[in-house]
Amino acid sequence: MSTSKVRDISADAMAVRQAFAQFPSGVAVLAADVNGEKHALVASSFMVGVSLTPTLVAVAVQKSSSTWDLIRGAASIGVSIFGRGQGDLTRKLASKDRASRFEQVAVEVGDDGAVLIDDAALWLECSIHRISDAGDHWMALLEVERLGVGDNEPLIWHGSKFRELTDARSVDVA
Ligand SMILES: Cc1cc2nc3c(=O)[nH]c(=O)nc-3n(C[C@H](O)[C@H](O)[C@H](O)COP(=O)(O)O)c2cc1C
Repeated sequence: MSTSKVRDISADAMAVRQAFAQFPSGVAVLAADVNGEKHALVASSFMVGVSLTPTLVAVAVQKSSSTWDLIRGAASIGVSIFGRGQGDLTRKLASKDRASRFEQVAVEVGDDGAVLIDDAALWLECSIHRISDAGDHWMALLEVERLGVGDNEPLIWHGSKFRELTDARSVDVA
């Protein structure tokens, strides 16, 4: 059964990427200090509200990520939701040069090693609840142990670009 709205995409990974970019999200960075070194993994696949009791959030991580192997062993994982004006910081923390990711980045490190970025929109300290196989990604459920809400509005990832909320373009609908 086919409609005029959809088509077979089995041989077109680029079309899948471009289509999925149409879905707006926030951007999170999972970060932890492991043996005195900070590690960061930027993820737009992050989602809140998976479960309230226990309080679970989720993230899909590429199986090829070398950083995930380090972060997943940490006692506590910090999650910061990037805010307005933090697009450049997001790219820096996702850059290939892992050693310089945290250079001149203002953070706070919790007792259990969770790394939280200054001026974010939201902060969580999490532990790993479950990791499931999800094709070329791992689907990680994280249990939220502590959280804090920042003053900054969230940064938006849409169409492979960072966007910011503006009052002029946000309209309350009934
Ligand atoms: C805006 C943005 C969103 C990203 N979202 C994800 C994601 O949801 N999952 C993921 O595994 N990697 C995501 N990445 C890529 C990772 O942040 C990182 O660059 C990649 O895992 C390679 O780094 P590593 O080898 O140090 O893990 C994203 C990168 C950017 C810039």
